[in-house]
Amino acid sequence: MRDEIIKLKKDKNAVVLAHNYQLPEVKEVADFIGDSLNLSMEATRTKASIIVFAGVYFMAETAAILNPDKKVLIPDLNAGCSLASSVDVEAVRRWKERNPNGVVVAYINTYADVKALADYVCTSANCLKIIEALPRDKPVLFLPDKYLGLYIKAKTGRDIEIWEGECHVHARITSEKILTKIKLHRDAEVLVHPECGCGTACLLALPKMGVEPKFLSTEGMVKYVRQSPARKFIVATEVGIIDRLEKEAPGKEYIPAAEDAVCEYMKLITLEKVYRSLRDEVYRVVVPEEVARRARAAIRRMLEFT
Ligand code: 13P
Ligand code: SF4
Repeated sequence: MRDEIIKLKKDKNAVVLAHNYQLPEVKEVADFIGDSLNLSMEATRTKASIIVFAGVYFMAETAAILNPDKKVLIPDLNAGCSLASSVDVEAVRRWKERNPNGVVVAYINTYADVKALADYVCTSANCLKIIEALPRDKPVLFLPDKYLGLYIKAKTGRDIEIWEGECHVHARITSEKILTKIKLHRDAEVLVHPECGCGTACLLALPKMGVEPKFLSTEGMVKYVRQSPARKFIVATEVGIIDRLEKEAPGKEYIPAAEDAVCEYMKLITLEKVYRSLRDEVYRVVVPEEVARRARAAIRRMLEFT
């Protein structure tokens, strides 16, 4: 199947883009692996005519928004996201009506209709930079992740309004769980994705215990472990990142902060579905141009920050 996929990619001038949480065998056939930011940037660079997006729907939608002339495919239409689904678009519209000079910053984990209402899109890799650059005299709504929002608020000191959404996978990574791991592995460095339930507790409490956690996007974690002299890491994010870390910086020990932090949506994408997607050119992700045009402007404003 792997060879068939490679052949189909060549015959059809297609690329496979894979998120870090994808299954190892899917990442193996990918032309590019990364976090949400790198994947969006790669989607703007690729010369391929077909993009098979091995990730979840909002990511494929972002690629489709940035590539209206390309065929963007997702191997399983059920690859959703609990965080992206937490947004009520009408409530965002009402907020904008109440705050005519307000700024809406939407995390990339949102659907196209929400991005179309946003002034800026951001990812975990650039959210601090974007919030810090906003004028201080305007109300700001950050959505949809409350843990990432609280982390941004604590780091920037900005008085932002935060949507009450969460990712059910990262919410499972609690302070109790990470503290248990820290006590068991005193010699480990602590890497935390800011979507985690333990985010602000890690930011405020761990330094008092002499632990300096590093807050990073998934690709930020890859870059960090490559150059760090440390031999052992506690990794607080979805467990799919671990095989990528092992591959990129082998010979080190990676301990998941929570073994049950598994995104079932990401794992819906199997090698067989990637093969079928390429062979039958399914399932095409199309965003209506009016929505795509407005969402694209908010994504481009983000890309200017990178
Ligand atoms: P990043 O890969 O951008 O860090 O995002 C994590 C995530 O939850 C994607 O769904
Ligand atoms: Fe969505 Fe959470 Fe899965 Fe990421 S890990 S795709 S935020 S449900």
